[in-house]
Amino acid sequence: MDKMIVQGGHQLNGSVRVSGAKNAALPILFSALLAEGKHCFRNVPKLKDIDSTASLLESLGCETSWEQDTFYVHVKKPKSFEAHYDLVRKMRASFLCMGPLLAKYGEAVVSLPGGCAIGARPINLHLEAMKALGAEITLNEGYAKASAKKLKGVPFLFETSTVGGTENMLMAAALADGETIIENAAKEPEIVDLANYLNAMGAKITGHGTSIIRIEGVEQLKPAEHTIMPDRIEAGTLLIAGAITGGEVQVRGCSPLLYESLIYKMQESGFKCTVTQDDVTIHPCASWVGVDVTTAPYPLFPTDLQAQYMSLMAIAQGTSVITETVFENRFMHVQELVRLGADITPKSRVAVVRGKPKALKGAPVMATDLRASASLVLAGLAAQGETSVGRIYHLDRGYEKLEEKLISLGAKIGRQ
Ligand code: UD1
Repeated sequence: MDKMIVQGGHQLNGSVRVSGAKNAALPILFSALLAEGKHCFRNVPKLKDIDSTASLLESLGCETSWEQDTFYVHVKKPKSFEAHYDLVRKMRASFLCMGPLLAKYGEAVVSLPGGCAIGARPINLHLEAMKALGAEITLNEGYAKASAKKLKGVPFLFETSTVGGTENMLMAAALADGETIIENAAKEPEIVDLANYLNAMGAKITGHGTSIIRIEGVEQLKPAEHTIMPDRIEAGTLLIAGAITGGEVQVRGCSPLLYESLIYKMQESGFKCTVTQDDVTIHPCASWVGVDVTTAPYPLFPTDLQAQYMSLMAIAQGTSVITETVFENRFMHVQELVRLGADITPKSRVAVVRGKPKALKGAPVMATDLRASASLVLAGLAAQGETSVGRIYHLDRGYEKLEEKLISLGAKIGRQ
């Protein structure tokens, strides 16, 4: 079942609920390592990346279980502090176990993640943050080993905004001696969700959601309960699905504030949206215009919606320029969209999309990463005829039941 077959040209209509955020759930599940005992999480999306996280936590001695829709992590003192290459290479976010293991047990051995479909994605800033907190780091045989008797709070400035780096430091500093001040901290809502869980466990964190986060280290944390925030990237993807098929789709359960940058661009492009506290409805629109987008850290346009937005722009009236500033090689979907008939010229980090309504025609294409696969499914929904999207397993890493949700809105899709 490696392929998704999409019969294009069917308008999507109806209402659909957003699942829990993958990018909030992953760091939060790893943060459980900071406190032995049973942690309880609601609204965890059922995804491949969550399975990978559970496998890694289990390899570290934790027990994990689903009871109906609640996910439990029972943390016990690990026998080994090693995150093996087999687990880390499947999911880069595995590197997030370093901060909690180091802070709680004074030791972490984590495989270096290696290359990635969207660019080099180094972890140097994670390691610098751990060093600043007093850890000794050695790199050997593909692994980073971090050790410290007791971490010490420090002021630290991230030279680039990094979501994972900020999360790793936040978790490590929660149990350090004294105060840590993270400057140029990433402001993504998922960081706020993580800090909220850490505070629920007894941490003393303030300023999360701004570029300066203060963490007063505490002696000990205790397991707690938490409901994972909604997935703003899934919400944006579903909104584009409605828009690209000219339908009327209500995306429920995710505050529009979390993906305002996309909503503004869509409105500028000609779409009418009705926005309430937790829902957004996109109204039918027969023709929309090309609008430029530049990706950047939150609250600006998310890199994780760049590929999906490009599909929408491929059938806009006129040209749009899409600039990717977060990752160095995140245009792998461009040549696949071109196979579907889009007219796009990528050059380094800029793609010029010469939009043409009705440009897309079904064809076989190949997914290269999670968000690229979503963009190809969206393009397939708008294309005339049949599109088959190969390597669709990328989609299962990060979208809960996307297929079922799209089918409930009237899409004609299946797997082969
Ligand atoms: C997270 C998200 C990912 C999203 C990205 C940017 C998770 C699990 N993943 O990834 O979906 O696309 O944020 O919003 O939450 N960098 C370095 N050195 C480092 C760390 C990062 O140079 O040590 C660079 C990266 O190569 C990239 C930029 O910083 O160019 C931002 O990356 P970062 O915010 O760290 O992304 P992730 O946390 O990996």
